[in-house]
Amino acid sequence: MDISIIGSGYVGLVTGACFAEVGHNVICVDNDQRKIDALLAGNIPIYEPGLEDLVQRNVAARRLRFTNSIKDGVDNSQVVFIAVPTPPQPDGSVDLSFIERVAREIAGVLTDYRVIVDKSTVPVKTGEKVTEAIKRYNKSNAEFDVVSNPEFLREGCAVADLMKPDRVVIGSPSDRAVALMKKVYEPFLAPILVTDVNSAELIKHAANSFLALKISYANALSAICDASGADVEKVADGIGMDRRIGRSFLNAGLGYGGSCFPKDIAAFIAISDDLGVPFTLLKEVQKINQDQKERFIKSIREKLWILRDKKIAVWGLTFKPDTDDVRSSVAIDLVNDLVREGASVTAYDPKGMEKAREFKLLPESVKLVSSALDAVDGAEALILATEWKEFANVDWAQVKARMATPMIFDGRNLFDPATMREHGFFYKSIGRPSLGRK
Ligand code: UGA
Repeated sequence: MDISIIGSGYVGLVTGACFAEVGHNVICVDNDQRKIDALLAGNIPIYEPGLEDLVQRNVAARRLRFTNSIKDGVDNSQVVFIAVPTPPQPDGSVDLSFIERVAREIAGVLTDYRVIVDKSTVPVKTGEKVTEAIKRYNKSNAEFDVVSNPEFLREGCAVADLMKPDRVVIGSPSDRAVALMKKVYEPFLAPILVTDVNSAELIKHAANSFLALKISYANALSAICDASGADVEKVADGIGMDRRIGRSFLNAGLGYGGSCFPKDIAAFIAISDDLGVPFTLLKEVQKINQDQKERFIKSIREKLWILRDKKIAVWGLTFKPDTDDVRSSVAIDLVNDLVREGASVTAYDPKGMEKAREFKLLPESVKLVSSALDAVDGAEALILATEWKEFANVDWAQVKARMATPMIFDGRNLFDPATMREHGFFYKSIGRPSLGRK
């Protein structure tokens, strides 16, 4: 199939590379010339395991190319994907101006039948608006179908998620469009669910909200475990073994972050308010997520008393491991909160430090160092904020020797309490009995 993808951000680039990998001819379009130049030179603007190889291999095989021209993309493909950002507005609702602009630009160059696919996460009923906009701005009266095809990939394992999806959702009333979409996805051998456009759009917000709900459920349980002496991991194992519940996304910690969950939950709340059927349960999901970080900081205060002038080491800045993404990262919020209370923070992250500095997400006073061990020098407390694997393999004797006082606050339940106690640390994690030195 000949496919174009408008928007070479996270979703667009990974999708384009994977489509090319299974044999389609893919044109990735972006209006940011610097990004296109970098991609043409073989530089991938994001860190995603496996992506660089995939892009280079498919560019070399001439199945993947890059351009800044929407006309080039639309002219030379049967299916045109839209994968542009849908950022949040201050009230939580979604800013659809990039989608609208792309719809107008497609309309301006559309002459023959094309399937226009919305891959960006959008509010229910956006497909209707895109259809109206294309009809309004298209002078050639060209035939087209608008399809909703939400993306469910996770950062850090995006390539694997795309190559082996749990399901592919195709929202369209048109048999012609659905047949072409099935051809696009045929090589992936995934279950396909065909729905109407509105349902497909809703599935995306409903899926992310449900996953966030699971996380907040586990986090609310962790507060009850802390108060009662139970162990949230055992409780999650116990309920997760029920196949109707499932164990995944029940890991208690500092809460969810990233560029998807916080934004999508806020958007779904705004969408439901707008439709006159407020989804109040999701407000509680948000509140639990916020409370979780506050509760964690309180536990640090309980031990260190006053945080002003205390030297604190933080391991992890990205919103989760295996990514360089620091957007809406709870770890970053946490560091900012600590600095506001006067703490002196030294941080280390395997991949996220560059972007944290570039986007000015941390106060200048935060010292960034080049290893986990350097971060703990002279620290009175060590906070684990993102569960990178390398933190599980550190030399604890060295960590202890370099710290001023051996205290660890584990915000992601990465370490084993008994092992930490053996190494002589005071150890506090989330919703698990503290077996550390009191
Ligand atoms: C999420 C969804 O998982 C994807 O299916 C979806 O396509 C994507 O959003 C999107 O809408 O684009 P992502 O944000 O990449 O993917 O990351 P997740 O792995 O879902 O993690 C999100 C946050 O939840 C992270 O901060 C993570 O630390 C946290 N989390 C996850 C927990 O606190 N506990 C868990 O048990 C699982």
